[in-house]
Amino acid sequence: MKAEELFDVRGLATIVTGGASGIGLACAEVMAANEARVTLMDRNSIELEKAVGRLTADGLDVRGEVVDVTDRVRLNLAFDAAATAYGRIDVVFVNAGIGGGPGFLTAQGVRNPDAAFENISDERWNTAVAGNLSSVFWSIQAAVRHMKPHKSGRIIVTTSIAALKTESGVGTPYMPVKAGAAHLVKQAALELAGYGILVNAIAPGPFLTNISGGKMFEPAVRSYHERVVPMKRLAQPDEIKGLALFLASPASSYITGTQIVIDGGATLGSAD
Ligand SMILES: NC(=O)c1ccc[n+]([C@@H]2O[C@H](COP(=O)([O-])OP(=O)(O)OC[C@H]3O[C@@H](n4cnc5c(N)ncnc54)[C@H](O)[C@@H]3O)[C@@H](O)[C@H]2O)c1
Repeated sequence: MKAEELFDVRGLATIVTGGASGIGLACAEVMAANEARVTLMDRNSIELEKAVGRLTADGLDVRGEVVDVTDRVRLNLAFDAAATAYGRIDVVFVNAGIGGGPGFLTAQGVRNPDAAFENISDERWNTAVAGNLSSVFWSIQAAVRHMKPHKSGRIIVTTSIAALKTESGVGTPYMPVKAGAAHLVKQAALELAGYGILVNAIAPGPFLTNISGGKMFEPAVRSYHERVVPMKRLAQPDEIKGLALFLASPASSYITGTQIVIDGGATLGSAD
């Protein structure tokens, strides 16, 4: 089998949540560049318009839906609109998510009382659950409703290496909600395998994106990752593209319920 057949995603009706920036935008780009039909969903209407405009100008088949994925009613309507536009939904990247905010240690290793366990507000906790777990649950539900009648589909959830390990520099609620999303992927995969729907997770390490209001670009945060990550650098968003294409294409036809780590070795331990 030729590589172009193994990775053939031509014509696949695809949704990417959080598609206006970073990892989601890169997933949308690689799918569209390989002739999938892609709906980018994002709550940031300005960035969404820019992304859709740029990709359309490149001759790619993309459309946008402004939607906050924590609004279940609006989310379902956006999925319905994409399904109406394409006649079906083949691939969904459940990617929208928010950063964890400050951890109990700063990048310089100083304790941050605002982020200490006992000081985490219910608001922060609930925001993390809504933005990184409930939204994943609702997005998978919406995807399944459209995929089950066709007995096929791919669902790819962006989790995080925070689902697998603890972090001192990331707000505490982020770890359990990402671990919850990772386990939800397995449970969904178990139930949906019989319907030809494959569900997997991508667990990124540090990527240079706009997450947490651009925190990854802060010199102290950046140099912390450049010190401890075994590959001594953060990833560029484009580096997600190979894995995204793999999980959406025939190349991964017998893979379900897995979480694939893409982290420059960060889960191996600190190389400082
Ligand atoms: N950047 C990293 O280091 C890193 C590491 C591990 C996991 N992740 C995960 O990757 C995913 C993508 O993040 P990113 O790094 O590309 O960040 P990003 O901020 O560059 O992009 C996220 C996009 O999702 C959108 N979004 C967020 N919440 C939304 C909501 N409720 N409804 C609709 N759109 C929403 C944002 O507007 C933004 O366009 C997230 O799930 C994040 O937790 C990122």
